[in-house]
Amino acid sequence: MKNEILSHLPGDFPWQVHWYDTAPSTNDLLKKWGKEGAVHGTAVIADRQTGGRGRLGRSFHSPAGCGIYLSVLLRPNCKATELMHLTCAAAATVCDAVEAVSGFRPGIKWINDLIAGGKKLGGILTELSLGVDGSVEYCVIGIGINCVKNPFPEELKDIAVSLEEASGLQVDRSRLIAMLLQELHTMSQALLTDKAARMAQYRRDCITLGKEIQVIRNGVHLPAVAEDLDDDGGLLVRYSDGHRETVSSGEVSVRGMYGYI
Ligand code: BTN
Repeated sequence: MKNEILSHLPGDFPWQVHWYDTAPSTNDLLKKWGKEGAVHGTAVIADRQTGGRGRLGRSFHSPAGCGIYLSVLLRPNCKATELMHLTCAAAATVCDAVEAVSGFRPGIKWINDLIAGGKKLGGILTELSLGVDGSVEYCVIGIGINCVKNPFPEELKDIAVSLEEASGLQVDRSRLIAMLLQELHTMSQALLTDKAARMAQYRRDCITLGKEIQVIRNGVHLPAVAEDLDDDGGLLVRYSDGHRETVSSGEVSVRGMYGYI
């Protein structure tokens, strides 16, 4: 599989690409390598994960031969406060890659879920390691995409979908992986300077905007309308009593008023 992926990349592609048949979690692997000094532009892809993780401690279903489980380690030279938009930039970039290969552009449920036909197609998990002064030592961007129609477990049957089902096409995983790597590489080259353009694309892709949602904080569900996004990807919501707040992805999750989205 590694050779197939490389065959779709330009010969001078500068990132290091590692392929595993099985990994616990490609994000965990890269976080370990990050501590050990892995260079900017190290990518790990696994055919299967035994401990795939999502945001807020959730698991990510990662069976063999069915999806893309890919993580990239970057070492941008900046403070964490300059990278607040990273999840949004990565999500919009992943949509670009999926569209380029399949013709189908997913939507994004704030902040990091890829959506097709009202169901979850995949997700993004970004994690930062910081120095004492708040500078970024490294960041890991993890991407999971359900590609092939697969027997989802009972708890995911009604909320998960594959790219093959969404696009009606057979998806060549190695081509999509190569496209993701190239688009992420382009994104990484202008991570700080291209922020406004990436956020503008994210705003177009974000299906949460304008919707009635529930803001979930510490198990409490509050009805609200998702009105807008700030420049860092914070979600501006208006509660039923008219009070407005910008919520950040670290503290809340959102659900649709009547279902998953
Ligand atoms: C989410 O659903 O909240 C995000 C899912 C992210 C899954 C990807 S798969 C590759 C990488 N490794 C992980 O353990 N998680 C991410």
